[in-house]
Order: sequence, then structure tokens, then C-alpha cells
Amino acid sequence: MSDLALFRRRLLKNPRQVSAIAPSSRTLARAMTLGLGPKSGLVVEFGPGTGRFTEAILARGVPPENVTLFELDEEFVDYLRDRFPRVTVHRLPAQEAPRLVPAGVSTVISGLPLLSMPEDVRQGIVSAAFAILAPRGHYVQFTYGSRPPLPPETISALGLSVNKGHKVWANLPPATVYRFRRA
Ligand SMILES: C[S@@+](CC[C@H](N)C(=O)[O-])C[C@H]1O[C@@H](n2cnc3c(N)ncnc32)[C@H](O)[C@@H]1O
Repeated sequence: MSDLALFRRRLLKNPRQVSAIAPSSRTLARAMTLGLGPKSGLVVEFGPGTGRFTEAILARGVPPENVTLFELDEEFVDYLRDRFPRVTVHRLPAQEAPRLVPAGVSTVISGLPLLSMPEDVRQGIVSAAFAILAPRGHYVQFTYGSRPPLPPETISALGLSVNKGHKVWANLPPATVYRFRRA
């Protein structure tokens, strides 16, 4: 089955959790993984789905042994384990990352549908990311909206700063990449 067909099937099964009409484009995947390379150290991905961003992380030269994924959907997890046998794949919510990943991660790449989540869940996810990130680490998140996917009060309450990156038109729908770090 193609990754589009699998994605559509899981979307029909669990629309709130998947929350996108198609996998992200390869152009968005390149924008999300900008700056990663063989010396990036540990990289964690939240909500990989069929692995569009995972593929781009590996294409940047990050060794598969340095990549850990957190994905809730069981069929996506089976597909990811098959596709990326040397990558660690947890069938667990992103919020569990601090229990399994030691602090010191350089980058968390998130494909999670943050905007469709309640505020307390969003905060839990971003807090989990910063619990494992190194002091100068980045949390990279895309959004289809025109503003950062966290309200300014939350950004400041968590002690973060945010940079707006590329608007990627070659994606359905077009998306913008934001990079969060400790202020
Ligand atoms: C919008 S899809 C994005 C998939 C992929 N990153 C892409 O861009 O093509 C969101 C993915 O996040 C997963 N997901 C949703 N909530 C999650 C959570 N709390 N922890 C881990 N994965 C989650 C869904 O199962 C789905 O695979």
C-alpha cells in the first residue's frame, strides 16, 4: 500500500488524531530538517505518521541509531518499523518522551497537529520536548495557521523564544515552519 493510501485509511479511522488530509510534502520535510547533519547528535520526532520527516532527517545524514520516533497510531508504527529498521520507534504519546529519552537531544521535529489540540495538551507536548532538549536545542513545528502554533502567553510562560521560518507553498495546505528554543 502506498503511504498516501495508508495515511488516508488511518485518517478515516481516527480523524482527530491524524488531522491532515495527506502526508507532508518533501519540500516541507526539507524545510523542517534544515540544519541537521551527521553531527547533529540525538534527534527525536513526534507524530511521524508515514515517515515523511523521518526520511528527510536520514537524508540529511543523521545516523538512524540517533533517531527516536513517538507515534500513537499502531499501523503507522508497524509501517515505520518496517521502513526504518535501525530507527527506534515507540508506540507512545510524545508526552512520554522524557521517560525514555535522556536529556541532551539536539532537535525535536514535530509533525503533531498542535492547533487541533487543547491548550493543556499542547503545553504538555512542548514541555516534554524541552525536558529532553539540550540547553541550545530546538523544537521545530509546522502549522497551517498564520501565527505560531502556541499563544504568546504560553511561549513566555515556558520561557521560550520563537523564529518564523519558511512558508512552504508546495504543501497541501501550505505550511509555515517555526523553531522554538529557550529564551
Ligand atoms: C498531521 S499527521 C503528520 C504526519 C507526518 N509527520 C507528516 O507530516 O506527514 C499527525 C501524526 O501525529 C500522530 N499523533 C497525534 N497525537 C500524537 C501524540 N500525542 N503523540 C505521538 N503521535 C501523535 C498521529 O497519529 C499522526 O500520525
